[in-house]
Amino acid sequence: MSKVKINKSRRRLIQSAGSIPIAVSAPNVLSNHHHREQTNPVVSNLDEIYPRWKTDSAKWDLQTKRFPGQKIHAAMGIADLDFKTAPEITKAIAERVLHENWGYILTPDSYYESIVEWILKRYGERISRDQLLLSTGVLPAIQSAIRAFCPKNSKVVLNSPGYTELYASIRKADCMPDESPLIKKNGMYSLDFPDLSKRLARDDVHAFLLVNPHNPTGNCWSRDDLKKVAKICDENDVMLFSDEIHCDFIADDAQYTPIYSLATEAVKRKAIIFKSTTKAFNLSAFKTGYVYAHDAEIISKIRQAGHVEFANTLGVIASEVAYTHSEKWLNEVSKYINQNMILVEKYIRKNIPLIRFYRPEGTYLAWIDFTEWMSAIDAKEKANEKNEEEGDYMERYLVEKAGIQLGRGYRFGSGGEKYLRMNVGTSKILLKEALDRIKMAADDL
Ligand SMILES: Cc1ncc(COP(=O)(O)O)c(C=O)c1O
Repeated sequence: MSKVKINKSRRRLIQSAGSIPIAVSAPNVLSNHHHREQTNPVVSNLDEIYPRWKTDSAKWDLQTKRFPGQKIHAAMGIADLDFKTAPEITKAIAERVLHENWGYILTPDSYYESIVEWILKRYGERISRDQLLLSTGVLPAIQSAIRAFCPKNSKVVLNSPGYTELYASIRKADCMPDESPLIKKNGMYSLDFPDLSKRLARDDVHAFLLVNPHNPTGNCWSRDDLKKVAKICDENDVMLFSDEIHCDFIADDAQYTPIYSLATEAVKRKAIIFKSTTKAFNLSAFKTGYVYAHDAEIISKIRQAGHVEFANTLGVIASEVAYTHSEKWLNEVSKYINQNMILVEKYIRKNIPLIRFYRPEGTYLAWIDFTEWMSAIDAKEKANEKNEEEGDYMERYLVEKAGIQLGRGYRFGSGGEKYLRMNVGTSKILLKEALDRIKMAADDL
């Protein structure tokens, strides 16, 4: 088949992805042993507990390696979804798999167009192709941006607690993370503007890495917050990296403001936005993402700094179908996650007074305060005896007593020590079971 023909048939399969029911007629090419024929073309049953064991899932299978011999009923640490992805995505992938050649891909214009159209339709952000750069994920793109704008050994400011891998990414790009702690008041977090102003004024700081919605606290930064942040960055000639990977999961009573949409002079000069299809549609394994900025020069600079712009065939197919055909699926999942968060909030308030939780504005991650529980079981002393962190002890305690694994907050930098993070992107039946099990462990104290 010539390149032209491949592209044509590829486009046909993407165009048809939404309209054909998903009975994939190629069981021989789908080795996934969980695959079953589906009849509902919009969204699968989100209550279904879709088993992910023994699929090399980082979220699930890693925990059996970390806790050998322990029966884990729910692994709820790593941030991906337990649901089947949108049926039209699986269908398009399965159809492409039937063409048994995996040579170099010519990234199709339609992929770029799908991104441009999605961010316009969904967030009102208008960009042209020269403002857009593809990447092999958000983290690699952030590393490229750091290399482009930050001299070696300089500092990149980020808010703590903050996503573990952002710290690692800054180091991988030969810089140092510099924490600007979020202010915590009555369990709620906010940006510390005086602290930010002080840090960003330093000579060895060339970038501030903002996360919106923030992982792990779930803050959606307001218009006013964003304007102020951009202004401080601009005044200090500091680039503003805005990681918006979680922006498709916003609580019903909250609002996400894309920083690009502000279009102030400061935002135009300094902001770089990082996004992907991978959180929203659960496509993380495909390693795709993209970057954009008002100023095409900024994008050129990242490209010139050695950025890897490759895309992989299945990642492109999946992402394009996601953006062109799967918005309805995303809306359903987002609604479901909202309900799950409300469930967690009500359940904890009513049944587990030992822990505290405030529903986040965005993300599918519940950031839960275990301070009292940790002190009730002398976690600090016990952890010291074992030469480990309090959070390691608490995590293992829950695995052993409840069969539930949550993410350790101390790995999110300072301020996270007393917290565990629960991913609610799962069946509400499993979520309820997890909460019941945690409650039983608390009642046993
Ligand atoms: C804030 C944030 N940025 C980036 C990532 C990962 O991005 P990617 O897998 O596209 O490199 C995550 C994953 O949890 C995240 O929470």
